Amino acid sequence: MTVKEIFETMDYGPAPESAADALAWLVDQGSAFGHFINGKFTAPSEGFDSKNPANGEVLAQLSQASQDDVDTAVKAARAAQKKWAALPGHSRARYLYAIARLVQKHSRLFAVLETLDNGKPIRESRDIDIPLVHRHFYYHAGMAQLMDSELPDREALGVCGQIIPWNFPLLMLAWKIAPAIAMGNTVVLKPAEYTSLTALLFADICRQAGLPKGVVNIVTGDGAVGEMIVNHEGIEKIAFTGSTSVGRKIREATAGSCKALTLELGGKSPYIVFEDADIDSAIEGLVDAIWFNQGQVCCAGSRLLVQEGIADRFYTKLKARMDGLRIGNPLDKCIDVGAVVDPVQLKTITDLVDSNDDGEIYRAATAVPAEGCFYPPTLITGLSTASKLMQEEIFGPVLCAMTFRTPGEAVEIANNTRYGLAATLWTENVNLALDIAPKLTAGMVWVNATNLFDAAAGFGGVRESGFGREGGWEGLAAYTKPKASTKSLTKIEAFIGEDGPVDPLDRTAKLYIGGKQARPDGGYSQNIYAKNGKLLGQAPIANRKDVRNAVEAAAGASAWSKTTGHLRAQILYYIAENLSARADEFAARIDALTGKKGGDKEVQAAISRLFTYAAWADKYDGQAHGVPIRGVALAMKEPVGVIGALCADEAPLLGLVSAMAPAIAMGNRVVLTASEAYPLAALDFYQVLETSDVPAGVVNILSGNHEELAKTLADHLNVDAVWSFSSSDISGLIEGASAGNLKRTWANNGQSRDWMGAAGEGKDFLEAATVVKNIWIPYGE
Ligand code: NAI
Repeated sequence: MTVKEIFETMDYGPAPESAADALAWLVDQGSAFGHFINGKFTAPSEGFDSKNPANGEVLAQLSQASQDDVDTAVKAARAAQKKWAALPGHSRARYLYAIARLVQKHSRLFAVLETLDNGKPIRESRDIDIPLVHRHFYYHAGMAQLMDSELPDREALGVCGQIIPWNFPLLMLAWKIAPAIAMGNTVVLKPAEYTSLTALLFADICRQAGLPKGVVNIVTGDGAVGEMIVNHEGIEKIAFTGSTSVGRKIREATAGSCKALTLELGGKSPYIVFEDADIDSAIEGLVDAIWFNQGQVCCAGSRLLVQEGIADRFYTKLKARMDGLRIGNPLDKCIDVGAVVDPVQLKTITDLVDSNDDGEIYRAATAVPAEGCFYPPTLITGLSTASKLMQEEIFGPVLCAMTFRTPGEAVEIANNTRYGLAATLWTENVNLALDIAPKLTAGMVWVNATNLFDAAAGFGGVRESGFGREGGWEGLAAYTKPKASTKSLTKIEAFIGEDGPVDPLDRTAKLYIGGKQARPDGGYSQNIYAKNGKLLGQAPIANRKDVRNAVEAAAGASAWSKTTGHLRAQILYYIAENLSARADEFAARIDALTGKKGGDKEVQAAISRLFTYAAWADKYDGQAHGVPIRGVALAMKEPVGVIGALCADEAPLLGLVSAMAPAIAMGNRVVLTASEAYPLAALDFYQVLETSDVPAGVVNILSGNHEELAKTLADHLNVDAVWSFSSSDISGLIEGASAGNLKRTWANNGQSRDWMGAAGEGKDFLEAATVVKNIWIPYGE
């Protein structure tokens, strides 16, 4: 072959990585695995084969965990937890450091085993997955070290049940285990049934690192084992990564169980190319966006949006690049696209694409191996937002494309999805990039790059992509809780009294919707009595229609979310000033409602609370995460959107203010449900709002039965989060109903809070009122 011929074909010779060491390791283990419980492997039991998807060969036998196995694992984790959490942060840091070093030392073995088991190209497991795994343990060794000094008010949750998928088997394990054990939790983790081998090798690493027994437990098996973990009473938190459908089931199953929950689910992430983009870079980015890991990436840039003027040129270049992709043996270092994880997933991809009649399909001209789970890189152009494939997650190497005309239209199309995990945008215009990034509904935005991950930057989504973050300071919240002790809350009942004449001059309290006083839709009110049975007034009973009107008003007040913290602070101060002017009147009302003395203190606490959140409105800043690439990740705190809150019964005014003030300070709009037993103070409060320049729709106040109103709020698709501080037993109802659009919930699970004290305000509220969006931008050399 002449040099000229070589240059013309640019063919690669094969460069296979040896599988010998990994296969020998499997043989050393007897090619059959039990579970890793309490620091030891159990004897293998009945189960299933783990296969190499590139050639169908059986790699090992795995055991299907029984209920007994899960019980034993949870028991071991429980037994270990207190002692593990009681260690100084430095001691835990040393263990995490030891794990990081051992993973690094065995990185080749891990990479080859991962590729054999999952089918991903060895270049990816070697250069991306495994380095990110040890990075995660190093980073969280640091978090363990800093916990005592930086998070003095937080403590571990307890035992965490962690269920992970097959697309990044060891990396997802690291994302789950590292922060959990760093913060003093112990874990029972279940890897995905297709890909459990690196988790079992990791178990061996834990043993080598001398990790105390019971801190990490690994049980293998399918979704049935996942369900046993989800339903287990000995577990305080469930962390799940996987499909939105299973995530929704887990939300329903854990509702009312008091378990903390984080869900990292699917996506259909937009990849937007503006006409002034560096086209070649944007095309190279697409290789990483959709052909990385055969497109089996939850944040894959699977929806290509190209500006119309460059679309033809872009598609032509893209097709040429696709033709150059090499698909085949994942252990070959020259391979770009490896095997899909399993024949089941291959069939899912094939069926989804075959059922599509829209647009034009282009498949890479590259040769696809006849045997094994391979699917060619595919592009489908000419789709519209209504096309099924623009909406459904394919989870394969299939890129769906359409064009747009203006930046505004790009944003509209990008956000036209039930998901909100990631977004990528390409433009050489910094003004355009920084204008568009905040407008995209996503947990991560990559500017002129794609699929960037790092332990220092939180990863996670909004909408049906789930809630919670993994990585960064923001990810730690998912593995700790405030140290404040709580007591159980008993239902606060309204006083009963004699029906008497209502003072005809007494103003009838109304609902407050869209900046106006509104009569309840059903036309019903209820008498509110003092402790001595005297009639104090009437409170409207809101129904579903009133909730819907209030949500509509709140959704319509979206301009509030774009106001500055400075403006929101001024309005909060103004509310405080106007409340202060009527302090005596409110104090008397609270005393009459609750039958106790102390209304004056409650009013003063409410004024102080308004000041607290006025203070935070322009100070609860984001961060700039230092990430080891030529860039920076801006962790921006964005409002959640529309928050429905069931306010505390025991503190009629302070309870309302304590939910309202942090929410609106952070730019949310709220639908507040007043104390069920003592609603009148909250209803008087709208007069204060009316005189304080609060724009219409930002704060809406309802009164009525908490259970009924909570259900409607939690069901409503335009509500982004529901908080409950109610004394009614409605946490389970809210969490269960929230599964519809996977809205965030923050429910008291029957626990009381000292509203007058420190537990009634602070960072927990601000955290619940915001979502972190990480915007990765090029920066520095
Ligand atoms: P899956 O969501 O069923 O599996 C993920 C994990 O959950 C596995 O460990 C599985 O054993 C476990 N699991 C299954 N059912 C469960 C249940 N009822 N309770 C508790 N745990 C349960 O994902 P699957 O079936 O493997 O893939 C199907 C689709 O899910 C893919 O085509 C893709 O669209 C999506 N997916 C998304 C992932 C992501 O990272 N967001 C990862 C894997 C799959």
